[in-house]
Amino acid sequence: MKGRDWLGEVEVGETLISAEEIRQRIGEIGADVSRDYAGLEPRLIGILKGVTPFMADLIRAISIPVTTDYMSIKKYHPDWEDTAAVRVLKDLDLSIGGQHVLLVEDIIDSGLTMEYLLAHLRNRDPASLRVCTLFNKPANRVVDLPLDYVGFDLPDVFVVGYGLDYQQKHRNLPHLAVVKTLTDAAQTD
Ligand code: IMP
Ligand code: MG
Repeated sequence: MKGRDWLGEVEVGETLISAEEIRQRIGEIGADVSRDYAGLEPRLIGILKGVTPFMADLIRAISIPVTTDYMSIKKYHPDWEDTAAVRVLKDLDLSIGGQHVLLVEDIIDSGLTMEYLLAHLRNRDPASLRVCTLFNKPANRVVDLPLDYVGFDLPDVFVVGYGLDYQQKHRNLPHLAVVKTLTDAAQTD
């Protein structure tokens, strides 16, 4: 069976990326954004909920004036392969017409969520629209997506921590960890 349910009961496994590595990399991304958007006062749009730790750290690593906004969406992958049905739960508070928009995501996997968001926001005539993701899993990509800022490329494993959840849990871990199924753990014992 495909999708999230296959994981069943999980526990937090080994650390994939430490809190310190994440902090350093966000410092570099913040410097890049500050240089690339100098004089443009970009609008950073975070995609809730997983993005909250990244957004909080990223905006403080940026040294130029920025504004922020958030969207919340729910994604359904009916067959988990190539169809994304995405529903907007909370839309933007502010208009983006004429604004330099940087979409900020926690992780991009198939790319279907981001493809939907880009189409949705492009309609509203921003001056520019670019993408920043802290984590990227290129192995599962089913659409061609231009990513402008990427923190870390990950292998094709399910991860939690630093905002990312499994069934809403483990977002509060300060580092990124892999999850292991209890079945796997039982097999190795
Ligand atoms: P995509 O549409 O397949 O790119 O889905 C991206 C979304 O799936 C992210 O915003 C996360 O909410 C979720 N996601 C994908 N991979 C992981 C993971 O390894 N851990 C936690 N959430 C994930
Ligand atoms: Mg997300």
